[in-house]
Formats: sequence, C-alpha cells, structure tokens
Amino acid sequence: MPVDIWSPASWRGKPIEQVPDYADAAALAEVEGQLAGFPPLVFAGEARKLKRMLGKVAAGEAFLLQGGDCAESFAEHSADNIRDFFRVFLQMSVVATFAAALPVVKVGRIAGQFAKPRSAPNEKLGDVELPSYRGDIINDIAFAAQGRIPDPARQLMAYRQSAATLNLLRAFATGGYANLENAHRWMLGFIKDSPQSARYQELADRITETLGFMRAIGLDPESHQELRQTDFYTSHEALLLGFEEALTRIDSTTGDYYATSGHMIWIGDRTRQPGHAHIEYARGVKNPLGLKCGPSLGPDELLSLIDILNPANEPGRLTLICRFGADKAGDHLPGLIRAVKREGRSVVWSCDPMHGNTVKAASGFKTRPFDKIMSEIRTFFSAHQAEGTYAGGVHLEMTGKNVTECIGGARAISEADLHDRYHTYCDPRLNAEQAIEVAFLVAELLKTERIGRGRSEVDAAE
Ligand code: PEP
Ligand code: CO
Repeated sequence: MPVDIWSPASWRGKPIEQVPDYADAAALAEVEGQLAGFPPLVFAGEARKLKRMLGKVAAGEAFLLQGGDCAESFAEHSADNIRDFFRVFLQMSVVATFAAALPVVKVGRIAGQFAKPRSAPNEKLGDVELPSYRGDIINDIAFAAQGRIPDPARQLMAYRQSAATLNLLRAFATGGYANLENAHRWMLGFIKDSPQSARYQELADRITETLGFMRAIGLDPESHQELRQTDFYTSHEALLLGFEEALTRIDSTTGDYYATSGHMIWIGDRTRQPGHAHIEYARGVKNPLGLKCGPSLGPDELLSLIDILNPANEPGRLTLICRFGADKAGDHLPGLIRAVKREGRSVVWSCDPMHGNTVKAASGFKTRPFDKIMSEIRTFFSAHQAEGTYAGGVHLEMTGKNVTECIGGARAISEADLHDRYHTYCDPRLNAEQAIEVAFLVAELLKTERIGRGRSEVDAAE
C-alpha cells in the first residue's frame, strides 16, 4: 500500500477528533499565518539531543521523568509558579538519580501544554449549556457564553507565554540554580516540616558529602558543567494541529521537519486513531513522540501505530505512555509488552498513573486517590520485571504548589480538604509533597530493578 506523501498540512485531509469550532475561518488563518512567521520556540538540535537521551532510556541506561500541569493557564503564569515547579522537579530527579545511579531525563509538561481533549463537546450547568472548556489556547474556563467561544487570538498569547516560560526555564537550568551544590536550598518552605523532608535532607547531605569528595579530587562545579547545570526539555499534547503546523519548520542542518512548539510532543488517548489527523501530523516530524496507551488499545493496534510512528525502529523516537488505571494495568500491560518485545520494537515504556485513576468525589470535585497512583506505578514496574523489559519512566500531573487536588499521601488530604486549594484548570495534580513521595517510591523500585539486573548479570557470567 503506498504511503501518502506527508506535509505539515497533510493532516487536514484526514478525519479529526477534538477540533474546536472556530466561527471565523479567516481570523483563524490570519493567526496561523502570523505564528508561521514567528521564531521557533525550540531548536531541532535540542529535540535530537532529547531523542538520543530517550534512546538511552529505551536501552535501560537512563530514566525518564516527565511531568507538569494538566493544563497551563494564562492567569497563573508567574515566575514563582515556574520556579516552584522546577525546584520540585529537580528534587524528584536527584532522588531518582541517586537511587538508580542512572541519568534522569527531565521533560516538563510545560511551555506549550495548553490544549485539552474533552469527553463531551458541551458542558451543562443547570439549564445552561455551553461549549466545553478546551484549554486557554482555545477558550476561557469561566462558565460564560462569550468566553467559551473559541478565539484564535488566544494562540498568540499561548505562543508568547510559552516563549517566556522557556526563557526562564533555560535560565534556571543553566544559570546556576540547578547546581547540585544547591540541593539543600531546593527544599521548599512548606515542605520543610513535611513527612518527606527528613528523607530529602538526608539525601541532600549525601550529595553534599559526595560533592565535597569530588571537589577534593579536582572535580568541581566550576570546571564541570554537568554539576552546575542540567538539560531540561519541554513537551505537550499536540492536539491543536493548526498551531502545530504553523510552528513546524525545516531544520536547516538536516532538511527534516521538526515541531518547534516543544521538544517532545505526544498524542492523546482520544486522538490516536491510525489514519486520522493527529497520527498523520506526528508521523512526519522528527521530534521524539509520546503515545498515550489506554485500556481500549489492543496489541495489534499498538503495533500498527508503532509502524506508522517509528517505521525505522529508531531508539528514543517513541515513548509509550501507559495510563490504564491501577485496577486495569495488570491486565493490559503484559499483552502490549509481549507484542512489542516479540516484534523487536524499540520503545520507551513510561507510566502515567494519573489519567486512569480519576474519580469524582461526593462534593463534585474530580480527584485521584494517591494510593491508586502509587499502586499503578508498582504494577507497572512489576509487569516489566515479569516480562524482562525495562520500566523506563513516569509521566505525572504535578505542581510545585501546595494544592489539595489528589486525596491521600503522607499528609492524608481528605475529600473534605479538596475545596481548600483546588486550583487546577483541568485534572487534579500531585502537590509538591505528593510528587516527592512518588519520587521516593520510584527510587525504591529503580533500586530493586538495578539490584535485580546486577544479579542477572552475575548469573549470566557464571
Ligand atoms: C493528559 O495527559 O492531560 C490527557 C488528556 O491524557 P490522556 O490523553 O491520556 O487522557
Ligand atoms: Co490531564
């Protein structure tokens, strides 16, 4: 069967789900034209470097930590929010690095994570029915008729916010903030008295001790940039394809097309139909790609999606982000893992323990029980251990703020607490303490995996 010629616009000829209903096509085209003339947000060389690092994850030589807001918002765009998020991310990453003795590939759901797929096109409140909120890049979250009309100008705002966020992230990553000698200072004010703080302090002490030793033998952060800076990458769901198309550019060094809206883009569980628009767009750009895998995805469909998205079987190109729910993961994962392994496909296996564990509290708030989140991560690791494959990463919805959106955790947030600091624009996120608690669990599982691997290497040598 001949494969259709790809272009940044070829998705337009395919069936598509989750499209906003823009009333003024000319205004939309005008905005897309403007975006097409703007500078890229990220560079092809950076996306290639991330792909190489993800190739190491696929080979079991690094671990992927991906996380951030479910939906970024225009209203909460501030230096404090970005810093608090980045700081927790660094803390989580040292926790995992230390345990696994492996590099942690850091990928934020940030600087472009604005468009949301919805389960229903409309939302009803009493007798009033309005179009659903689809993310700040499309319409307004407030339940009011005018704001719910998709407005193309919001795409310009999202572009500019992404540029400003990236600017600060680049400064934090390379300007000294990420220096490992700051590990103690990354401790957030409100985490100081948290159940996790003693564990983290202990780890930070060990890092300080190690750095002191390294300094004594001549390996200091001043002359070794890997100790004082880090690589931090951005990612988002490539849902709003007109925006993605406008930011798709040819890389001058390779002649290949890249999405320059973020380093990594992923395809959501609702828009991954083979032959449809979102898969069509993603197959043609050379960025590392994520594919959300939910309970309705069977092994054969997964293999055909892998054929489309990674025909050359390039390591690091494709990350399978599994989001089954704690109670379903054990049933679904083995079949997918076996199929991928049997066909010799190189993928990164990552666990999104958030999206299959959303429940509605009696009070009406959408929430996620922390123990279900932890349980899905455990199941993910044990499924890989049983199949002899590598549990390569986690994908989390999290924030650096002390919100009350997921119930449970060491501080036992209850349903009655949810209204207190429920700030999310879409799905409930882990707060900073819960995120660090997850990092300690991941660290423990990685350590067990590492010890297990060490043992099988010894066995193989005997
Ligand atoms: C998300 O990551 O916010 C999301 C909508 O996920 P999924 O496509 O897995 O439902
Ligand atoms: Co979400």
